Amino acid sequence: MPSILEFSYMQIPLVDLKQQYQDLKEEILSSLSELMESSSFVKGPKVDEFEKAFAHYHGVSECIGVNSGTDALFLILKALDVHPGDEIITVPFTFFATAEAVVNAGGKVVFCDVDPERYTLDPSQLENLITPRTVGILPVHLYGMPADMDPMMKIAEKHHLWVVEDACQAHGALYKGKKVGTFGTASAFSFYPSKNLGAYGDGGAVLTNDKKLSEKIRKLQDHGQLKRYHSEVIGYNSRLDAMQAAVLKIKLQRLDEWNDKRRKAASFYTEKLTGVKQVKAPKRFSDSKEVFHLYVIQTERRDELAHYLEKKGVSTGIHYGIPLHHQPPFKNSKIHSFPVSEMLSQKVLSLPFFPEITEDQISYVTEEIKEFFS
Ligand SMILES: Cc1ncc(COP(=O)(O)O)c(C=O)c1O
Repeated sequence: MPSILEFSYMQIPLVDLKQQYQDLKEEILSSLSELMESSSFVKGPKVDEFEKAFAHYHGVSECIGVNSGTDALFLILKALDVHPGDEIITVPFTFFATAEAVVNAGGKVVFCDVDPERYTLDPSQLENLITPRTVGILPVHLYGMPADMDPMMKIAEKHHLWVVEDACQAHGALYKGKKVGTFGTASAFSFYPSKNLGAYGDGGAVLTNDKKLSEKIRKLQDHGQLKRYHSEVIGYNSRLDAMQAAVLKIKLQRLDEWNDKRRKAASFYTEKLTGVKQVKAPKRFSDSKEVFHLYVIQTERRDELAHYLEKKGVSTGIHYGIPLHHQPPFKNSKIHSFPVSEMLSQKVLSLPFFPEITEDQISYVTEEIKEFFS
């Protein structure tokens, strides 16, 4: 492998979506052109086809395309009839939308800290947080790593709680051979462009095997109607755009291949970082086939390293620098300490990562990291 001196300066973005588009350009433009000719811009065959394909990919019966991952979470919670004061347990170490959806649906957020290795909800802390007001658990499969579902599902069953999975970062990930998004009552996916399955704008989906729940969500997402101009309840306008559905249908066929590439690139990163004692690479678990939405390291000198890499042309990200219990809207919630989330928020750094990232690019990044610590 070439040394740092053999690499000329490289500019490496955190995420590069351009290469993927070049690969799929003809197919996508042809599908979009067909859609334009048909003028079926809202709902219609492209949305139906994608919903069927996404449900089939997961082996579930129902998929409802919606406007975003945030809406997917919100609409599930609305359809589950969350009442004011109902407590929903989720993590403080996630994107804001997870907890935001709970509040918007009328629920009360109760935070549970995350596991220090998995970065997902720590089931060993769950039972202490359950009260007579608890109605459900909302785990997040963060960075593409499945949450530890078996102990969580057992606790949920014991206490008669529903589980809604936030799978917005984990399209195609497997826990004990089963796809995430198929464990709970329902699950939410985001198709934000940089996701493992990303649209060319906003998009999201709900998965469930519960026909009644699915019907409720279908009504809520479309002005309370299942039949046009027959509104049975007060709803919203949150439909998956037909253009996004057309793009997603094409991209879904490549998802497993891209996830394989992500796992391979992650292995290469970890191999290159072996021996750099100031850096902790993501741990892998034999019970899971994770999909590396992000490749996230931990390091004490996170901000200095990020600044150094930026100067060397390497873009990085912090997912997430402020745990949710420190964000103003949640500051007044009963103060608990979430030491793992707090520690992670100080140390995590996302390195450039996308399926098409090359070994040369990874080598450049890791050599610069070694240089920084030398
Ligand atoms: C964990 C998590 N939950 C929810 C969302 C919300 O998805 P969207 O941006 O599609 O609304 C995201 C998206 O970034 C996410 O990463």
